[in-house]
Amino acid sequence: MSENKQAKPGMSRRKFLTYTIASTAGFLGSGMLFPMVRFAIDPLLQKGSDTKFVDIGTVSEFGSKPKAVEFRIQRKDGWYQEKGGEKATAWVLKEGSEILALSPICKHLGCTVKWEGGGRTNVFYCPCHGGEYTKDGVNVPGTPPPKPLDVYATKIEGGRLLLGAVKERG
Ligand code: FES
Repeated sequence: MSENKQAKPGMSRRKFLTYTIASTAGFLGSGMLFPMVRFAIDPLLQKGSDTKFVDIGTVSEFGSKPKAVEFRIQRKDGWYQEKGGEKATAWVLKEGSEILALSPICKHLGCTVKWEGGGRTNVFYCPCHGGEYTKDGVNVPGTPPPKPLDVYATKIEGGRLLLGAVKERG
């Protein structure tokens, strides 16, 4: 007796189940993946998450000798925003009508620089590895820092000095 095997037209049961399971898994997987990707990139989609300008005093308070100023900035970093603002420091000086607000963070390994620290005169000095910067924050050649100190954005409103976001110099 011979068995007559004839291929049935259409899809086999095995193929149908494979396709059904794969498409269901794909649908469920993409449903889980989308919220995770959205959550990860959410800060990039937010507008207005930059640093706001902060009033640090009257312009007349500052002169040609760098003065350390402590203040708090409202800055949102991704999902995190410190309550009451983030503590920040700037070395502020005014030469003629030009105002410069320098970050005290050394560009070598991040220690804090001090005006005329370590017995040095007319330079910012970093005690960690002997880094030096000129009065306008430019790194002194032959000392460890590879770049000038960062600067805060500044603006004057009604005779008062406001500091904004800190930026790296070109
Ligand atoms: S961290 Fe300032 S010189 Fe090294």
